[in-house]
Amino acid sequence: MIVAIDGPAGSGKSTVAKLVAARKGYAFLDTGAMYRTLTLACLENDVDVDRAEAVVAEARKHRVGFERTDYGELHATLDGRDVARKIRTPEVDASVSTVAAIPEIREILVEQQRAFARGHDVVAEGRDVGTVVFPHADVKVYLDADPEVRAHRRAVQAAGGDAAKGNDAGVDEEDEAEALAALKDRDERDSTREVAPLTMAEDATLVDTTNLSLDETVEVICALAGINVLTKNPKLEKHKKQVEARKEKMGRVARALSPELRDKTPYDETLEPMRHFHNTFDDYYDHAMADYPLLTRLLYDLIGWGVFCVTKLVWPWKFEDDDEYFEWLRAQDKGTVVIMNHVSMIEPVVTVTHFWRKGLRLRAIYKEEFNRFTFMHWVFTRIGCIPVSRGTSDLKALRRAQHALERGENILIYPEGTRVKHEGDEVETMGGFALIAQMAKTGVTPMAVVGARKDHRGPTLKRRHSFIGIGRPLAFGSLGVKGRKAQLEAMEAKAMERVWELRDALRREHPGED
Ligand code: DC
Repeated sequence: MIVAIDGPAGSGKSTVAKLVAARKGYAFLDTGAMYRTLTLACLENDVDVDRAEAVVAEARKHRVGFERTDYGELHATLDGRDVARKIRTPEVDASVSTVAAIPEIREILVEQQRAFARGHDVVAEGRDVGTVVFPHADVKVYLDADPEVRAHRRAVQAAGGDAAKGNDAGVDEEDEAEALAALKDRDERDSTREVAPLTMAEDATLVDTTNLSLDETVEVICALAGINVLTKNPKLEKHKKQVEARKEKMGRVARALSPELRDKTPYDETLEPMRHFHNTFDDYYDHAMADYPLLTRLLYDLIGWGVFCVTKLVWPWKFEDDDEYFEWLRAQDKGTVVIMNHVSMIEPVVTVTHFWRKGLRLRAIYKEEFNRFTFMHWVFTRIGCIPVSRGTSDLKALRRAQHALERGENILIYPEGTRVKHEGDEVETMGGFALIAQMAKTGVTPMAVVGARKDHRGPTLKRRHSFIGIGRPLAFGSLGVKGRKAQLEAMEAKAMERVWELRDALRREHPGED
């Protein structure tokens, strides 16, 4: 597990991160200490920190590291020499932002920071650990506090006191004013530099420590990391929701990524794990496909192979230029909503099969009317399809699709609703796909098929070749409009437009297929 804590100077990161690490037995990585150590190397060797090449050359001569003291503390080392105290001087304070703004220096240290965490559980703190160093950290926290409070903590620390313990070492207003000026200056430089500026990661949780004690802050972060539960402290009340949201997300991501965890805990704690037999239809709709009983999962693979072999022989199909797309999709922590034109039963079947071959799950949304056929209902359930009652706002189906996307499963929707069997048939598209994507805060992938349409004059089993094209995924943020409603409408229109454009392009590439 990686817990990434970012925030400005004096927000309490180091102290808090150390305590969280100690509580869980995780390694503690103070990335600021590494920038400080290289700054110290420059100061000791009379290297002008404003000359970036000289700083980089100096950095290459030294080894930055950490060693554990007899008291279990991690001290920064420069070429093996303990420099823990030397890196906390006003001289280093004054130069470190300049050193940290040099892109090559950041490259060198970020690489070392990642190496430090490889294979370990780590609590890392700094300015860019949640945004740049560990963008996939399990827990991201952005610690902040009012500048005056941060300056007070820094001034007390510099005078040898400990603000957290109420020992303020006799600092006066003048010391604090000086600390405040230095801190504002450093904040400004750290947040405005070009490379990896101090910003809050989009998926980080903001914890404002202005009115929180050290213990309270540690408690909140430990709760976010799933280490403890929040006590009934009115001051922590507002963090309850954050903790709940984090827990839900961590559960989901962990379950999507780790087969081990998947088998142990149901992703949604309110859901009973599935049994080997006697599950209800709802169980299949609500659970992750990875949580289906073993026999069902085996059946799924069997169906996958069967469909693959039969269709490749009888109705050969081909996905065009899809490598890059699947690489991209695998790197997303949520699934995507796939939409397509609909001309036969071939395309949903082969699309789901193709995703399965790529190691991904694609859950098709289908009309509830099919459930009248018991066998179909049974099979559709086992292969992860989700029924929707058309013409009503079937909130249950929307939520099921939303949760599937949030877990990393993908959703397949045919907005045309019903197969368009003949060219020129009137098409009324349904925009539910955009709503589902918006609810799950994910995007839409337009795809198109040509060649699968059944020729009604010929025999049903006539060999038909299909070609499926994948368009560039659309994100709500890239539509160029603001506001939920406007974005929804833009997505409905644009994504379908892309499907048809893609279909027309495929027709041009494969003349004679429609
Ligand atoms: O957290 P600190 O005060 O020890 O950090 C020292 C300096 O290093 C600070 O000015 C910002 C910089 N820094 C950085 O740029 N990126 C990090 N990940 C950590 C620190």
